[in-house]
Amino acid sequence: MNFLTQVLHLVGSGAAAFITARNMRDPLTRPNTLASLQLAESGSVPFLETLRDRAATEGDLWLAEKLTRHANDERRHGQIFAHALRQLNKQVIDFKNTPKSVEKAGEPKRNPFFDAYFEGYTSAELKPEAIDWIAFLASTYILELDASKDFVRMANVLPEDEPVSANLKKGILSVASDETGHAAYLREALERRLTAGEVDAVIDTWRTRKVNAMLAMISNFIQKSGKSPSLVQDGVPTEMSEAPAALAA
Ligand SMILES: [Fe+2]
Ligand SMILES: [Fe+2]
Repeated sequence: MNFLTQVLHLVGSGAAAFITARNMRDPLTRPNTLASLQLAESGSVPFLETLRDRAATEGDLWLAEKLTRHANDERRHGQIFAHALRQLNKQVIDFKNTPKSVEKAGEPKRNPFFDAYFEGYTSAELKPEAIDWIAFLASTYILELDASKDFVRMANVLPEDEPVSANLKKGILSVASDETGHAAYLREALERRLTAGEVDAVIDTWRTRKVNAMLAMISNFIQKSGKSPSLVQDGVPTEMSEAPAALAA
């Protein structure tokens, strides 16, 4: 990673953390922030479980066990955000009932961050059945490491003098500590497969990709002048609906 990338990393992380923390603190934007976190966290579970099965089939039981724990943690993270939404008398929109015009029929949803982060990879190459192990481990390591810090920042903007916020703050801090654990095992998994120099090089590559992806996301955010589509509706769910698959921390 060159010096400019390093500086942009700090600026990009700071800007994204500022936006998320602001959206978490503001009662008007908090539901949407919680909903997007719920979708991202629970959406990663099927991806991780498929990878776990693949690791087991390939005989890497150490990794399979770590991935089992990882998937369970992400499921729990999704539940923490779903619970926080219910306390605001909100729930994630049931996408099955969304009019087609909202989702643009037939067009896959584009995410400027993920498009840039995984630039050069086809969607088939990013499927859990096919993704290159090193690419998975290193790309997820960077996301988990940064997520652990972002969640601490998010928790810190929540007030403690009111029980619902205080409870959410505790939940988010426990999420942050799980993400730190995820980053640690992912790095260890890289170290089991690569030499120290190779680990540094591959992490450096994904750090640079993350910086570029953050810039893509921030410029998209500015173009839309901060308007993101609503992900929540009023009411408490009778059953938890399945979240769409997405790679998340
Ligand atoms: Fe998580
Ligand atoms: Fe995680």
